[in-house]
Amino acid sequence: MKTLRPSSLNRRQWLQATGAAVAGLTLAPRLRSAPTAAPVEYLPVTPEGLVQLSLNENTLGASPQAIAAMRAHLEQTCRYPYGLTPSLVKAIAAKEGVTPEHIVMGVGSGELLEGCGALFSREPGDVIAAVPGYLQMVAAMERRGCRVVGVPLNDRLEHDLDAMAAKVGPATRCVYICNPNNPTGTLVAADRLRAFAIAAARQAPVFIDEAYLECADDFAGNTMVGLVREGHNVVVARTFSKIYGLAGQRVGYAVMAPETARAVRAHLSGSMNLLGIVAAQASLADTGFVPAARARIKAGRDALLAVLRAKGRRYAEPQGSFVFFQTGQPIADFQARMRAEGVIVARAFPPLLDWCRISIGNPAEMAVAHAALQKVL
Ligand SMILES: Cc1ncc(COP(=O)(O)O)c(C=O)c1O
Repeated sequence: MKTLRPSSLNRRQWLQATGAAVAGLTLAPRLRSAPTAAPVEYLPVTPEGLVQLSLNENTLGASPQAIAAMRAHLEQTCRYPYGLTPSLVKAIAAKEGVTPEHIVMGVGSGELLEGCGALFSREPGDVIAAVPGYLQMVAAMERRGCRVVGVPLNDRLEHDLDAMAAKVGPATRCVYICNPNNPTGTLVAADRLRAFAIAAARQAPVFIDEAYLECADDFAGNTMVGLVREGHNVVVARTFSKIYGLAGQRVGYAVMAPETARAVRAHLSGSMNLLGIVAAQASLADTGFVPAARARIKAGRDALLAVLRAKGRRYAEPQGSFVFFQTGQPIADFQARMRAEGVIVARAFPPLLDWCRISIGNPAEMAVAHAALQKVL
């Protein structure tokens, strides 16, 4: 399907052009009809007809092999999926260079953030995390009585590892690092993160959330799974929701020492869905998918950065599937003005209240976003 040119369409025309007039059925029929490797260029919109660029989904689409696997299993959904999980775990363990006992599956990696958060806050103490950062694990620990020790990012909006190291002590129950960081998209230098994590892990578990790392230019040089293999008290989380384009299927996993894995499982439902399992397994088998998706996300990032540079806007150096930039106006005003142009951007990230995070969508979505930014910035 050709890229729509939203600037030439009014809201009603979009709705008709995208089939979005059937409220609530906007995205699914289009996804189901896109089983080829061709770039997905249709314009998915929310039931209100808006372009959703606030949740860091990959609307460039899942692997065609994953979509085919889900189709092939539609009639198996009367079955429980338990028999399918071991082979997915085996494939993940092989990819990560660990044993299946090192892998804990979750209903999205969010479940692992919650489960590890529950485990690590069995005793009251501190969770150390960057500000602004992704809050799910920090919030899970705070709910259970832990104190959040927030450490501001440095002036490049990267983790300030020296400042974080200075906070680690006997009261530390967990150090949470999101790399690339959400919402800023910045990556910390691998050698520095490695040294930091090894030292911090002597005192408390270090949880490294690599939800977006496969979008980065150098995945292999930056993943910290090697620290788990070497026996450090480190947990690395990954998800099929981001680069794999399977957010709706809720599959994530974490790599950790087998004894930690056994303890974490006690805090999880462990109950993924059948289509998610087969989609994840097929995605891993499609070895060309991640490099191709990474290149397309990077092209989307670069095109967006060109708009921001032309507008003279500051931005954090992005290595994820989103860009964080300074809007020059209060974020609530900016959100409202983008919404009026048909685009939903992410929430406010205190204390950076005139900065905005916007996801990289497919070309049709980005055309709408670029047109909106031209007007609003
Ligand atoms: C940094 C980070 N970690 C984890 C998650 C949880 O994602 P999921 O539960 O879909 O794997 C998200 C979702 O946006 C995220 O941004």
